Amino acid sequence: MIQRRSGSEGVIRALNLEPHVEGGYFRRTYQAYHRDMLETANGSRYLMTSIYYLLDEQSPVGQFHFNQSDILHYFHLGDAIEYSLIHADGSLQTLVMGSDMLAGQLLQLHVPGGIWKASRLLDGPNGFGLISEAVSPGFDFADMEMGDRQKLVEQFPQHRTLIEKLTRDEG
Ligand code: GUN
Repeated sequence: MIQRRSGSEGVIRALNLEPHVEGGYFRRTYQAYHRDMLETANGSRYLMTSIYYLLDEQSPVGQFHFNQSDILHYFHLGDAIEYSLIHADGSLQTLVMGSDMLAGQLLQLHVPGGIWKASRLLDGPNGFGLISEAVSPGFDFADMEMGDRQKLVEQFPQHRTLIEKLTRDEG
């Protein structure tokens, strides 16, 4: 029997990506080890770090999580990715990264620190979407909080359906 291979397999292998705790796959490609570290309220951080990040049909969702740092996202290849951003005041912003600029898709997306972010692969012919992220101050797990479904729904009840779709059911 011929097995259908997902379009993402070769990309994951070529870029040596590993599963990410939020869903999807990643690999860190850069950290500013040659520069002075930044002192932040949470400790010492690289000036900047960068990763590849990929969503595919096997792992199509980057679950809601909170970052302290600003993150610049750069779209590279594949199908479009929808971003859901919940701001501190509860407002929801929905943006799409992808290569169809004429349809309003974004090649770059700036997500400021201090908000909740989730991402979701949209249907398309490739079965994966690949971006890069540049993070400053540099990424550290201590600056990231995975979204707890129950707590997020309590904080933002107006977004219950979305939060239930884009968090894990730990209950
Ligand atoms: N998200 C954004 N940057 C990073 C990183 O360097 N490591 C991990 N694990 N997640 C990230």
